[in-house]
Amino acid sequence: MKLPDAQLMDKIQDLKNSKRAVILAHNYQHPEVQLAADFLGDSFDLSRKAASVEADIILFCGVSFMAETAKIISPEKTVLLPRPDFVAGCPMANMVTAADILQLREKYPDAAVVTYVNSTAAVKAEADICCTSSNAVEVVKKIPARQVIFVPDRNLASYVQRFVDKQIIPWDGYCYVHNRIDLQSVVEARRSRPEAELIVHPECLPEVIDQADAVLSTSGMIDRVHHSEKTEFMLGTEVGLIHRLQRELPDKNFYAAGTARFCDGMKQTRLKDLYHSLEEEKFKVDLSADLLESARDSLEKMLRYV
Ligand code: 13P
Ligand code: SF4
Repeated sequence: MKLPDAQLMDKIQDLKNSKRAVILAHNYQHPEVQLAADFLGDSFDLSRKAASVEADIILFCGVSFMAETAKIISPEKTVLLPRPDFVAGCPMANMVTAADILQLREKYPDAAVVTYVNSTAAVKAEADICCTSSNAVEVVKKIPARQVIFVPDRNLASYVQRFVDKQIIPWDGYCYVHNRIDLQSVVEARRSRPEAELIVHPECLPEVIDQADAVLSTSGMIDRVHHSEKTEFMLGTEVGLIHRLQRELPDKNFYAAGTARFCDGMKQTRLKDLYHSLEEEKFKVDLSADLLESARDSLEKMLRYV
């Protein structure tokens, strides 16, 4: 039976209260999912929230590495992903494996390993520290090593390299959403709207980042445009964020920098999935105790560092 959104929303709230659950949602989620959430944010905000929130269940609306991260940080809680992990996934997170890290360590024995949080639990377990798009530069600056292996995002690695006097050894992964925002369409888009401020995500190509007025995480972008006196913005990120900002700030104008792209994994979750997931307590993030313990260190180090 298909229920209207308002009724579904009420049922989700009832289930949430009776099961002591909280709903965390990433900034790229569908609007109705964002409305149902107790907390919205970028990967870093949501990691911090998973560490501090009081609840028995976290219903994590995002992609699987984010729900895994919440479980690693709060292993005593039940963490649910409303869709199965192979549906709500991030392809970049699967571009590097734990075995790759071991090989890199053999090749560069003096290097520290920093993994972007967009990675599997097994990779986090082999890394020295995690980072997110909002703190990658700070983490790499602080880690006491002259050589840093950075996985899996080559674009974020090259962005960090601009700010640090250390050798960064990048892995060759990338985000298909941000990597497809190409220089030529960004230049053309800018030419057609010279008054717009260009803000891009650090997962974008280096030549796109070169054009930008600001390079920020998704929450960084939201914060900047809310507090800016400017009225025209061109965003180099997933298009759902552009639609959301246009709704929140109707007196300002938002455009896609180049071709507008959706993240498939992020867009798999709908309101009905929240309801079924909470009701049936599916799909539980299930990681072995050993993996939980070995992956926790790199995440806790990040939370202590920044
Ligand atoms: P943020 O941490 O900036 O929200 O980025 C997560 C992500 O997956 C971007 O593609
Ligand atoms: Fe992964 Fe890219 Fe989607 Fe972010 S936008 S979750 S990096 S595929």
